Amino acid sequence: MNIRPARVDDLAGMQACNLQNLPENYTMKYYLYHALTWPQLSYVAEDHKGRIVGYILAKMEEDVGEGEDPHGHVTSISVLRSYRRLGLAKRLMVQSQEAMATIYRAAYVSLHVRKSNRAALSLYKDTLGFEVKDIEKKYYADGEDAYAMRLSLAHLA
Ligand code: ACO
Repeated sequence: MNIRPARVDDLAGMQACNLQNLPENYTMKYYLYHALTWPQLSYVAEDHKGRIVGYILAKMEEDVGEGEDPHGHVTSISVLRSYRRLGLAKRLMVQSQEAMATIYRAAYVSLHVRKSNRAALSLYKDTLGFEVKDIEKKYYADGEDAYAMRLSLAHLA
């Protein structure tokens, strides 16, 4: 499975993958905004026929206060069910993190995840070393709380 930077003509495939995997969905305009503003931060995983089987949609945080460090944010990541546990999500995360640190000087990367999302929590905490920074009550549309998580990128600077 190949991992490569996402291009504008991948966005429909990324959106289709997102719709299959997650209840948090986004307009095509929002995908395009990511791709045009931070073209180095989003990646796709493709199979041998070039079909998109996973993606990471990521950005730099725009609302950074004075004196605050620039940081990246993972808007969404998912991998199609039959391609899971092959290390694709880990590879997508690491590629994006490296670009955040080297291109945008991101000090850390943040994300939100449902408290009940065991697979994603294990990926973030156990595999990648993220820490829970906060609990955001009723963050999701159905009322579920989110963990706000963070990982320092100092080792990549
Ligand atoms: N149960 C327990 N641990 C898991 C699981 C699982 N089902 N899946 C992954 N992990 C952990 C393991 O530690 C795994 O390492 P190992 O396989 O050596 O044990 C490690 O994460 C790396 O796994 P990957 O193979 O890289 O993960 P995968 O490609 O399967 O994708 C993902 C993980 C993205 C969470 C996938 O299950 C998925 O698409 N889920 C539905 C969508 C989703 O929940 N996305 C995240 C929402 S939060 C956000 O987008 C910011």
